[in-house]
Amino acid sequence: MKEMIKLASISKSFGNVVVIKNLNITIYQGEFLTMLGPSGCGKTTILRMIAGFEKPTSGEILLDEKPVHNLPPNKRKINTVFQNYALFPNMTVAENIAFGLKMAKVPKSERKKRVEAMLKLVQLEGYENRKLDQLSGGQKQRIAISRALVNQPQVLLLDEPLSALDLKLRKQMQIELKRLQRKLGITFVYVTHDQEEALMMSDRIAVMNKGHLEQIADPQTLYEKPGTRFVANFIGESNIFYGKVVETTDDLTKVVIENGYLAIKSSMKVSQNQTVNVVVRPEKIRLAETEIDHFHIPAKVSEHYYAGNVKKTVLKLQNGMELKMNTPSNQPLLPIGKDVFVYWDPMDAILVKSDSDKIFKILKSSDFAPIE
Ligand SMILES: Nc1ncnc2c1ncn2[C@@H]1O[C@H](COP(=O)(O)OP(=O)(O)O)[C@@H](O)[C@H]1O
Ligand SMILES: [Mg+2]
Repeated sequence: MKEMIKLASISKSFGNVVVIKNLNITIYQGEFLTMLGPSGCGKTTILRMIAGFEKPTSGEILLDEKPVHNLPPNKRKINTVFQNYALFPNMTVAENIAFGLKMAKVPKSERKKRVEAMLKLVQLEGYENRKLDQLSGGQKQRIAISRALVNQPQVLLLDEPLSALDLKLRKQMQIELKRLQRKLGITFVYVTHDQEEALMMSDRIAVMNKGHLEQIADPQTLYEKPGTRFVANFIGESNIFYGKVVETTDDLTKVVIENGYLAIKSSMKVSQNQTVNVVVRPEKIRLAETEIDHFHIPAKVSEHYYAGNVKKTVLKLQNGMELKMNTPSNQPLLPIGKDVFVYWDPMDAILVKSDSDKIFKILKSSDFAPIE
């Protein structure tokens, strides 16, 4: 695969505040790569450095295998689509799309042809002479995308391009944008704080946390094998237990948690007494009326919520911790107030290295008695 963008040991500070820490990412030609993370984690700053609006404090950016740090934005074969469209309100649709071509002195007949082709691509044929205030939010965003694509960039950067749209339109535009990217084969670097959007659109997702890269992987790997507690928490819904390994056999890892213990099947190497995080997705939680081998997690059914295709249940553990459980809507639920035992298929729990010593605050030493 051809390397299209390479961020090599990029750091960025504003004054003495470090906002990007030693970032290494390679993005391949034709890839849909998403930067995902909470607000303020540095996503926009990364895009602005790729586009050339900001300079890294240290490190190198390669575009198409050539260093670009001394090239101004207009000399990089990159365009950007912003959240707020950044269109010219007094110009027509055609004038907006053709603006960059006009600057580049592309002849009028060629401009007209390219604008027509773009409008066809985004399914707005015949809209050339419309004024911008005659367009809906979704149409404006399609015009912004057309304008960014019309001079055939190698890379399109998109900074939360759909976040101003209402939910239904956003979902529709997600599919349209993904189709467009597949059709054109252009490298997309997409920024969002919406994990669902990232999961459904991306070839790979780079999960950012406070300026550093937590994990970069394809959506399924991120969901099924989150590498850190942060990723497990940010991507999808999770139940996360802090625990300590008390026993490892060839088959099972047994972990003590507060007021209980549980079993995991994991390829991760752990040692006795190691502190760990155990991640269990809500759809993997099972309930029994009597205790199941290798598990001791007593709980009470606390609340039920109807959410269309699933019913969401809150389970309360004895220490006050709440677990999230999802049940397909066509299956029966246990009544609220019922005492139950929580378990799961040991294959369905994910072991994540502990990234804090919080365990020592919530676990008393007496909880570490070996499991008989
Ligand atoms: N020009 C700037 N001057 C000073 N601080 C900035 C500047 N741009 C961004 N920051 C800071 O850098 C951090 C990352 O911002 P940003 O890249 O916009 O995050 P995101 O897009 O993930 O929300 C924030 O703490 C923000 O306040
Ligand atoms: Mg931003």
